[in-house]
Amino acid sequence: MSSVLRSVVTGVGSYLPENIVSNADLAKFVETSDEWIVERTGIRQRHNAAKGEFTSDLATAAARRALEAAGRTPADIDLIIIATTTPDLTFPATAVIVQRKLGCPVGIAFDIQAVCTGFVYALNVADGFVARGQAKCALVIGAETMSRLMDYKDRTTCVLFGDGAGAVVLEPGEGQGTTADRGLLGFALRADGTKEELLRVSGGPSSTGTVGYLTMQGGQVFRHAVVNIAEAVNLAAASAGIEVKDVDWFIPHQANQRILDGVASRLGLDESKVVSTVAKHANTSAASIPLAMDAAIRDGRIKPGQLLLLEAMGGGLTWGAAVLRL
Ligand code: ACO
Repeated sequence: MSSVLRSVVTGVGSYLPENIVSNADLAKFVETSDEWIVERTGIRQRHNAAKGEFTSDLATAAARRALEAAGRTPADIDLIIIATTTPDLTFPATAVIVQRKLGCPVGIAFDIQAVCTGFVYALNVADGFVARGQAKCALVIGAETMSRLMDYKDRTTCVLFGDGAGAVVLEPGEGQGTTADRGLLGFALRADGTKEELLRVSGGPSSTGTVGYLTMQGGQVFRHAVVNIAEAVNLAAASAGIEVKDVDWFIPHQANQRILDGVASRLGLDESKVVSTVAKHANTSAASIPLAMDAAIRDGRIKPGQLLLLEAMGGGLTWGAAVLRL
């Protein structure tokens, strides 16, 4: 066997804002009910960032916890990639702001915009830097303040989303080029710009000069999600050289419990292998996968050496999956 450089996840961390908003809280100002939201989505609450608390603050807190878990300090970091669709500012990139807040040395820092699939895209990009020897210690972060994109008069969207951040530390590790290696083993990334109208935000710096509100054709998104995610999972498994049935844990993007169940059923997955945090976190877009991963590592379900499959779909449409051994 020839030796290969793998990008190994050496630490995971996450952060949720203190303010919890229950379904009953939302029902006070928009015509909805806890019963409707739970039945259609599985969501029971979400965390909302406080006034003056930005995406970079959430990302910085998650990154500190990931660094601690990895036994690293900000001084070790030479690459920061943040997946976000809710940056603090149009520019500079939120990754650069986080670099400053953490006190990391001059290195590489930039954002990736692939909406809810952003974390999977960011992992793939970071893997390229690590595998080429361009990064020795990388932070890959998904961080969002989705509450800032909500039209709180639109009950069809405002009940679905929440704020939060999750981060992983990636470091190079020697592998044998087999599926027993620790690290990132395979990916599938997809985008289809013809489906833009299904899920989008109505503003932007170059078009309206405003931030805009999130709009969605929920039923259509749902139908595409189950088919597209299952396709990406199979492609990523093939690219890693593993069988889907061999995966220890599925860590889906947490959009809606019914999508999680639909994908599990289409792939013939045992539901007990699916990590679900949607009830407590709601849809935190690019942050949802590392948030769920961190929750299941810290409560002892996910153990070192296990095979994980991450998957997501979001605005674009974009979708994708990644296979890694922890
Ligand atoms: N409370 C009460 N009633 C509501 C609410 C609400 N929050 N939202 C919609 N309704 C009403 C609608 O107005 C409609 O009423 P009507 O029949 O009088 O017109 C009724 O409920 C049914 O609406 P539908 O949109 O048909 O409800 P559906 O069963 O499709 O559920 C949902 C909507 C939950 C959005 C679903 O389509 C879905 O989960 N889609 C996936 C979208 C998603 O999760 N996107 C996240 C971003 S993409 C991603 O991350 C994968």
